[in-house]
Amino acid sequence: MIMAIDKSLRDSAQLFILELNDLRQLVKRFRNEIEAGLHGRESSLKMLPAYVGRPTGEEKGAFIVLDMGGTHVRVMSVRLMGDRNAAIEDIVRHPIPPRLRRGNGESLFDYLAQAVRAFFSSHDIPPRPLAFTFSYPVAQYSLSSGILIRWTKGFTVSGVEGQDVGALLVTALKRAGCADLPFMTLINDTVGTLLAASYRDSTCDMAVILGTGTNACYPERAELLSCPGPFPQGEVIVNLEWGGFSALRRNAYDRLLDRQSPNPGEQRMEKMVSGLYLGELVRLVLCDLMRREKLSPSVTALPLTKPYALTSKHLARLITTCPPGMEDVIELIHHVVTRSARIIASGIIAVVTHQDPTLQNSHTVAVDGALFTGYPGYQDKLEATIAALLPAEKARITLIPEREGSGVGAAVAAAIALYR
Ligand code: BGC
Repeated sequence: MIMAIDKSLRDSAQLFILELNDLRQLVKRFRNEIEAGLHGRESSLKMLPAYVGRPTGEEKGAFIVLDMGGTHVRVMSVRLMGDRNAAIEDIVRHPIPPRLRRGNGESLFDYLAQAVRAFFSSHDIPPRPLAFTFSYPVAQYSLSSGILIRWTKGFTVSGVEGQDVGALLVTALKRAGCADLPFMTLINDTVGTLLAASYRDSTCDMAVILGTGTNACYPERAELLSCPGPFPQGEVIVNLEWGGFSALRRNAYDRLLDRQSPNPGEQRMEKMVSGLYLGELVRLVLCDLMRREKLSPSVTALPLTKPYALTSKHLARLITTCPPGMEDVIELIHHVVTRSARIIASGIIAVVTHQDPTLQNSHTVAVDGALFTGYPGYQDKLEATIAALLPAEKARITLIPEREGSGVGAAVAAAIALYR
């Protein structure tokens, strides 16, 4: 019998449900791991100091930013006006070809350097300080240097883990004939997003990325961290690397996805919530059912045979168009995406209440990434979860979209480095 999908699919969908009580526990576990990571105890949160604090909003200058994300490299010229105003004067995007995501470090960094060179060739601008946003876990030992701990988001490029990515870029820039560019800063994309948002709005005290991968950062009291300043406002931004958070209950599909990934055991939270993985989780459930039952043609027509062929974009299209015969698949997608938003909401509450346990003050959280800005209803799910967990204090947490913040923030970091 052909099923339009049935009870077994609904049963599988239930595996993705997280109730409010589960979330309250999750917030507690998050806070414990934040504390443990900060105090050097074992934690799945890396709590990496970014060697930079929030800006005053008066920083000025013109910079070139190279921003390497999970799917694209962007080169942009950014001008900071010094009155909490910043402008992207020009931006060029290049996709990162799949062969470079799996190749060697030299080819990848040559590609980055060539993108910078092409930007200068096509724009008539003099050499400017260069700021680098690198969206992978880096243990920094200054604002311009740090070693890549492990690749994430499906990258397996050889010869980069354990190396200083700032130095690799400088060497590649020399090979590309761009030795005259003063290399200023190396930052994570979350840190860039926080710097960009707080350049404009001094109340911003957390940033979250929800795109191909996920991560968050916030400003911490500098005296808690052993990293040399100076930090004029007495605070240093900490990159949680929360994609690695592991105190989460996983189901059979989460474990299967993890086992089949290039980095088993790592980035457990990221694999349950971020844009790269949501389609794959849905695909794994459907493939599992297909082995046991005959599914309706509308379901089998989905791109299910190749790993990662079903993407978050497909999910977004399905929930917007609601094709007939797909009601149960849409219910599954709903549970998978709602779980993602609920886990993220719990993380946001944990970070904000770590800073302000009784929520005395208002907090602004800058959020960027295609899942947040592009998936229909994601922001609503996030806000609804925050409201359900904090009914009395929900108005104290405001989420604001911060597009291209990772790039603008790199320029802010470079300006801080130049004038401190
Ligand atoms: C990386 C983080 C990054 C996040 C969002 C994760 O895979 O480990 O460093 O901030 O993706 O891009």
